[in-house]
Amino acid sequence: MNKIITLLSLIVVITSCKNNKTSSNTTAAVASTSSYTASNHPGKKLMETKCYVCHNPSADHDNRIAPPMVAMKSHYMTDDMSKEEFADAIWNFVKKPSEDKSKMRGAVRRFGVMPYQQFSEEDIKLIANYMYEFKIDEPEWFKEHIEEESKGKMQYRNSGKTINSDGKVHADPKNHAETGMEYALNTKKELGKNLMGTIQKKGTLKAVTFCNKKAYPITDSMAVAQNATIKRVSDKPRNPKNKANTKELELIAQFKNAIAKNEEYTPVTEVVNGKVHFYAPITTNSMCQQCHGSPEKEIQPEVLNTINNLYPEDMATGYAVNEVRGMWSITYNEE
Ligand code: HEC
Ligand code: HEC
Repeated sequence: MNKIITLLSLIVVITSCKNNKTSSNTTAAVASTSSYTASNHPGKKLMETKCYVCHNPSADHDNRIAPPMVAMKSHYMTDDMSKEEFADAIWNFVKKPSEDKSKMRGAVRRFGVMPYQQFSEEDIKLIANYMYEFKIDEPEWFKEHIEEESKGKMQYRNSGKTINSDGKVHADPKNHAETGMEYALNTKKELGKNLMGTIQKKGTLKAVTFCNKKAYPITDSMAVAQNATIKRVSDKPRNPKNKANTKELELIAQFKNAIAKNEEYTPVTEVVNGKVHFYAPITTNSMCQQCHGSPEKEIQPEVLNTINNLYPEDMATGYAVNEVRGMWSITYNEE
C-alpha cells in the first residue's frame, strides 16, 4: 500500500506530453520475468525435495522443526528488492548458516540455527527465484501468526504468480498493479527526461512544440519495448485523441473524488479476456502550470498562443496543483 502511494507520487513529479499512441501486442510474456510456469519451475521441485524435510508448509504450528518457507520469504524480501538480490541474500545464509547472519532470531531461539548442509549455489538460487516469482504454499495460520508475533512490525509477504484451477499461471492482483505501475513509471521517466531537458535548454515555448512533435515516437517506442498499450487519457484533453472513453471517465471521476477529499487511493486493475487493464491518476504539480495552469496568470502569452495554434480545441488549462489532469490507461497481456 505504502509502496503504491510512493510510486503514485513519483509518477506525478514529472509527467509530460505524451500521446494516445498505442501499439499492438505481438507476443505474450510481458508480465513474467522468466518463461517458467509455477508447475515446471525447477526451483519448485528442488525446494520440495531439499527444504521441505524441515520447512514443510503442511506441518502444523506446534509440531514444526523449522519455519515454513513463506516465513523466509516474508523476512528476506523487501519492497524494492530484485530477484538477484533476494537470491543472494538467501544463498548468503544457506551457504554457511550462523546465528549472526540470521534475520530470524525468534526462529533461531525456537529451533536452533539451521544445520549446515552442502547445497549448491545454483540449486539455492533456483529455489530463491521460484520463491520470488511465485506465490508459494503457506500454512493457513501463517499470515495471522507473523503479524501477531511481530506486533505488526513484520510484513507478511507472499506475492507472485499462482496456479489457478485451470492449471494456468496467473499473476495476483498486487502483481498486476505493480506491473502496470512499472510501465507507467518507465514511460513517465523517458518522457519526463526529454521534456525537462527541453524546458531547461530551450525554454517552455520550444517544449510545447517538442511535446507536439516528439511525444508520439517516444511513447510508441516505450509501448513497443514494454509490449503494452500505453495511453494517457483525460476528461479535459489537450489533444482530442487523448479523450477518455466512458469507462475511463468514470474512473477519473472516482480518482478526482478521492484526491479532492484527501483519501487514499490505489490504481485500479482488471483482467478481461486475458488482458490486464491498469488505471492510475496523473496529478498536477507546479511544473505543469506553465502549460496547464491558469491562461491569464500562469501560462506565458506566447506559450498560450502556440498551444492554441496547435490545439484549437484545447481543454487542458485552468488546473491548480494536485488536481487530476488525467489518467494512465495501460493494457498488457496477462502472461
Ligand atoms: C534439516 C533441517 C533443515 C533443512 C533441510 C533446511 N533448513 Fe533452512 N532452517 C532450518 C531451521 C531449523 C531454521 C530456523 C533457524 C534459523 O533461522 O537458522 C532454518 C532457517 C532457514 C532460513 C532463515 C535463516 C535466518 O535465520 O535468517 C533460510 C533462508 C533457510 N532456512 C533456507 C533453507 C533452504 C533454501 C533450504 C533448502 C535448500 C533449507 N533451509 C533446508 C532447518 C533446515
Ligand atoms: C511545455 C508544456 C507542458 C508542460 C510543462 C506539461 N505539459 Fe502536459 N501536455 C502538453 C502538450 C503540448 C500536450 C499534448 C500532447 C499531445 O499532443 O499528445 C500535453 C498533454 C498532456 C496529457 C495527455 C492528455 C491531454 O490532455 O492531451 C497529460 C495527462 C498531461 N499533459 C499532463 C501533464 C502533467 C501532469 C504535467 C506536469 C507534471 C504536464 N502535463 C506538463 C504540454 C505540457
